[in-house]
Amino acid sequence: VQPFRIHAPLLTPISPVEMRWHPDGVVAVDSDGCILFSGDARDIPERLLSLELLETEDVLLPGFVDLHVHLPQYDCRGKFGASLMEWLDRFIFPAEARFADPEIARDTAQRFFAGLRDAGTTTAMVYSSVHARATDIAFEEAGRSGLRIVMGKVQMDRDVPEDLLESVEQSTREVIELIERWHRSSDKLWYAVTPRFAPTCTMEMLKACAGLAVRYGTYIQTHINESTGEIASVREFFPGHASYMDVYRDAGLLTDCTVLGHNIHPGDDELRMCEERGCAVAHCPDSNLFLGSGRFPLERYSSTSIRVGLGSDVGAGTTLCMFPVMRSMSYVQGRSLHPFVPLYHATLGGARALSLEGEIGSLDEGKLADMIAVRVDRHFCGGKPLEQLKPLEIASALVYRSQPSDVTAVWVGGERVLP
Ligand code: GUN
Ligand code: ZN
Repeated sequence: VQPFRIHAPLLTPISPVEMRWHPDGVVAVDSDGCILFSGDARDIPERLLSLELLETEDVLLPGFVDLHVHLPQYDCRGKFGASLMEWLDRFIFPAEARFADPEIARDTAQRFFAGLRDAGTTTAMVYSSVHARATDIAFEEAGRSGLRIVMGKVQMDRDVPEDLLESVEQSTREVIELIERWHRSSDKLWYAVTPRFAPTCTMEMLKACAGLAVRYGTYIQTHINESTGEIASVREFFPGHASYMDVYRDAGLLTDCTVLGHNIHPGDDELRMCEERGCAVAHCPDSNLFLGSGRFPLERYSSTSIRVGLGSDVGAGTTLCMFPVMRSMSYVQGRSLHPFVPLYHATLGGARALSLEGEIGSLDEGKLADMIAVRVDRHFCGGKPLEQLKPLEIASALVYRSQPSDVTAVWVGGERVLP
């Protein structure tokens, strides 16, 4: 990376209730893509003044972290299909079956990662399809994109169409190969063992998945407690277990490297189990609104230590862009949230969920320069200059009225990936 400093307004999260705002800010980046300085321009150390200077009026933010998204569903956004289980059967399983074709896998992966980048998402945790070859292709394209990608092949061994079904043995063999080829194959690629969810996995499959993740030190991702129909089917198939969460506990899937998608209908005991085991949760509000799945109980999470990030959950989510996802996070609560809350969850919250908060998630010294520039409408606040805006005002503008085309530049580890 060519070292540089960028002079720009700068907003970066500290917590869900606190941000640093430097209207006259600077970020300096070294040849390793690390942030050497981040703060007021007047405080930059003199030795950094020799770095090449970029300037913009657009606001610098940490790149977004999309904690839950399905690559093979990129072209299935917005397919109305009533509730989750019918929608999977009618649209999603047939669409994912098409990823047996490497050409479809390649073309979709290229457009998908370009879509993430264009939206200012610099890190994503991704579900591929059940196909090992398509997942190889997806990792190749992820590597080419320059984005930070945690990804895995979906695993399922029951109750799905024939062409998506696999045995535990075959699935395990394929996943071992994928892990050996891709997990930490660069500083930007990780593998996540990905049992789809309990309704499409036997206990044997769930246990095999947990074993793989422990043996190879990978992430785990799956879905839980998203819809009432799903919960009923788990109760029916696993009658001996106290709850949905208890099925995953029994399988060994609840670890501090586990990201649980949704979990919007947990019992008190399930939430406690999730907290005790240190699992993170991917909240996907746009998807929950689209499928009518229900409301995320944010206030119950707030009294726990559970790490929560935001996911687009494309294709039940309708967009890869985290601006509308942040708005949805607010609106599912039935009220307008303070904009720091969704902005934190779309950045530092997601980084914490992946235990990557030491490297990414905010523009702090010593972290990697995963950074985006966002154009803010100058007519906001009656045309007041940005310098006069309070952090609340600038965060409001970013969360409640930005769109993907407002992302004007994207860096990952100091490397410019857009434009
Ligand atoms: N639960 C299991 N699979 C899926 C999926 O593909 N999308 C959503 N939203 N929920 C799921
Ligand atoms: Zn999902």
